[in-house]
Amino acid sequence: MAQIKISFVLNGNRVEASVSPEMTLLELIRRDFRLTAAKEGCGKGECGACTVLMNNEPVNSCLKLAASLVESDEVITIEGLDKDGLMQTVQQAFINEGAVQCGFCIPGMTMTSYHLLKTNSAPTEHDIKQALSGNICRCTGYRKIEAAVKKAAEDRRNKK
Ligand code: FES
Ligand code: FES
Repeated sequence: MAQIKISFVLNGNRVEASVSPEMTLLELIRRDFRLTAAKEGCGKGECGACTVLMNNEPVNSCLKLAASLVESDEVITIEGLDKDGLMQTVQQAFINEGAVQCGFCIPGMTMTSYHLLKTNSAPTEHDIKQALSGNICRCTGYRKIEAAVKKAAEDRRNKK
């Protein structure tokens, strides 16, 4: 099948790839770029395990066709936030609050939480529930996950 050449910015670096028309962004970042934090859960846009930031908004990378990426698109995965202070705060709060069970949903949960706290430094319980409504935890650890996001917001405010 014909391959399509694309170029976009991935974790701060310009990258190029040849992709088939049906390849998803999730497949591209996991297979070609070996960035495996984002997970494939449902593959249908229902679980949020594949969440990455695209142009500063959380997206389900399983629904995004790689061939639709354009030069100005900027994709950030958790690997690209490794040294980011806010992501470290979020991840530490998840650990401290015991919010991680099997861990499968956690990359998506933390990426969505990161975006929430980036845009809202003092989220209410409703804000947190709403932000995480597209992320499913098959271990059903929602209360602790929500508590972790609340704690991360407090920790972040205290650090300022
Ligand atoms: S794998 Fe993308 S939303 Fe479930
Ligand atoms: S911790 Fe297991 S799916 Fe969420």
